[in-house]
Amino acid sequence: MKRSISIFFIFSATLFGIFSSTEYFRDNLNQISFIISFVIGFYFLYEYLRNIFLASKIVALHHSATRLSFIAKYAFSFLGCIDFLVCIPLFILLVNGQIPYWVLFLYTLSLLKLPRYIPGLAMIGNVIYVERRNLLATLMSLIILLVIFSSLLFAVENYAQPEVFQSIPHAMWWGITTLTTVGYGDMVPITLLGRTIAASTMLIGIAMVAIPAGIIASGFIDEMRNEAILSTWKSVRSFPLFKELNSEKISEIASVLKSQVIPSGVTIFEKGSFSDSMYFIVEGEVAVIVEPDPVLLTKGAFFGEIGLLEVAPRSATVITTKKTNFLVLTMHDFHQISDRHPDILNQIRQVASQRNINQ
Ligand code: CMP
Repeated sequence: MKRSISIFFIFSATLFGIFSSTEYFRDNLNQISFIISFVIGFYFLYEYLRNIFLASKIVALHHSATRLSFIAKYAFSFLGCIDFLVCIPLFILLVNGQIPYWVLFLYTLSLLKLPRYIPGLAMIGNVIYVERRNLLATLMSLIILLVIFSSLLFAVENYAQPEVFQSIPHAMWWGITTLTTVGYGDMVPITLLGRTIAASTMLIGIAMVAIPAGIIASGFIDEMRNEAILSTWKSVRSFPLFKELNSEKISEIASVLKSQVIPSGVTIFEKGSFSDSMYFIVEGEVAVIVEPDPVLLTKGAFFGEIGLLEVAPRSATVITTKKTNFLVLTMHDFHQISDRHPDILNQIRQVASQRNINQ
């Protein structure tokens, strides 16, 4: 709920900041807009003070640090600065009694607070942080190429176009628009040698721009894989069957389980079909079609074990009654885990024998 309120305020503040720059808004700055900026500003101030309070609380966990050092760490962090900047319109309003319209652009900065509430956005920040060395190396290469090509072009073109390629810094403007393949066309080489250098710059530019995109894409895949491993680990830990295991054994089991999401109303397998795996329900619900009435299994339960234990066809049809998230254990991994963890095998056997009785 708190998260939704924060997201609501962030989007409202951004829209308000955007529209405050329009002529219509500027000419009609009225009581309502003051009230809106007041409410938004107060909410952001409340968030800022709350974060400072939380930072001062963390100090209790670190006996060596002072309260002030923790508050300063938050206040001077990137998000701490953003939290403060978005409060400035309110401060001006309180001191002056009115806000110059251009100050309201600060509200658009509140978008930078979003990664706190939307994990996917935080992932982008993580990827850039993790890949910072590779990205920095690409940036350095780009700067080296920029300086070299701009200097070369200055040397070649300055004689032919002294007004256009006046200096190396002037040529650098041409260099950056060419290397990034933007190409404004406001500075164009006219000599043969100049055009040859320009052609090489363009070709190298295409390759250079592709490199960071590739680094970020592969970083994203790594990050998603890590997230998937972590979420499987957490799911495994939440199963009653695995609750006695230490984190090392949970990791071992998590590494062989495959996550699968199946929509509602789908038959997972039919009675009599080949038994090749068993399923753990992370979220959702399935119906096991047995006589006299179907049995519903939900979060934390497992099924498909009888077929694996008895090396026999499925004893019942199983259908999802809700969108269900499973962790699937193949027959091969089931036997390996059973060999290494006889206690888990015993527990599965107990549940299976109980079910056999009920059938
Ligand atoms: P399996 O025989 O491999 O495939 C059907 C699955 O339904 C079976 O394994 C059990 O996991 C599950 N099952 C069978 N009977 C019952 C029951 N009475 N209650 C709950 N689950 C059952």
